[in-house]
Amino acid sequence: MEHQAAGGIIAIIGGTGAEGTGLAKRFIAAGNKVIIGSRSTEKALMVAEDLKRGLPHADVSGMENQEAAAAGSIIFITVPYDALKETAERLSGRVTGKVVVSTVVPMASSNLRTYSLPMDGGSAALELQQLLPDSMVVAAFQTVSAKDLLAPDRELACDVPVCSDHQGAKEIIMSLASCVNGVRPIDGGLLENSRYLEGITVFLLNINRIYGVRSGIRITGI
Ligand SMILES: NC(=O)c1ccc[n+]([C@@H]2O[C@H](COP(=O)([O-])OP(=O)(O)OC[C@H]3O[C@@H](n4cnc5c(N)ncnc54)[C@H](OP(=O)(O)O)[C@@H]3O)[C@@H](O)[C@H]2O)c1
Repeated sequence: MEHQAAGGIIAIIGGTGAEGTGLAKRFIAAGNKVIIGSRSTEKALMVAEDLKRGLPHADVSGMENQEAAAAGSIIFITVPYDALKETAERLSGRVTGKVVVSTVVPMASSNLRTYSLPMDGGSAALELQQLLPDSMVVAAFQTVSAKDLLAPDRELACDVPVCSDHQGAKEIIMSLASCVNGVRPIDGGLLENSRYLEGITVFLLNINRIYGVRSGIRITGI
């Protein structure tokens, strides 16, 4: 099933990383218009060119993060947790009234394990909503591996829970998620549930170490 994002240009802040580029690849393949954002215009343009080489009809461009946020109507934040606050502060004013999606997982890894980082706000997505009170923050895609997103032949076959306090914004992102082949969006309720979504991602990463796989989630009973 393929949908166009609800009239939206998708801007991906930190879109030069694995998760942002992977999401871009999947959204472009489904016919969406994407802007890759970066702190460096040159780096953003390089990644956009790379994506175009793989998908010749792609509608993709590259811009510095602030420009990308101003030009986009659906803004994905795909930066590491320790860059979240500064990134949000730099975007403020450019994302007013827009849907802002956090894929961020506050975590760290040692040789033995992956673990959640302590947070003041309960979750990265809740912190983002506090930092951007005039935007509609949505939490989604944390549990989808960038390596899977980037592998064109990999059938995702997973659920993507979507959490937000803004029903309309949640519906836009559920519709967008459903355009990604093999993804079933799940209404994950209010944004406060993002704490479980971020936590279960850390759990999945530990499962991946044990089994040597890339795991995802499927909710049964729906
Ligand atoms: N990798 C995965 O499989 C995966 C899966 C689900 C969720 N996530 C989450 O998605 C987010 C992105 O993951 P990733 O693996 O793509 O991360 P990443 O490669 O470490 O970083 C993504 C991008 O963030 C920007 N960035 C890095 N440090 C920054 C800083 N101090 N200030 C501003 N921007 C900075 C960089 O872009 P520029 O240098 O171009 O500005 C970088 O390419 C993370 O929060 C992660 O927890 C990742």
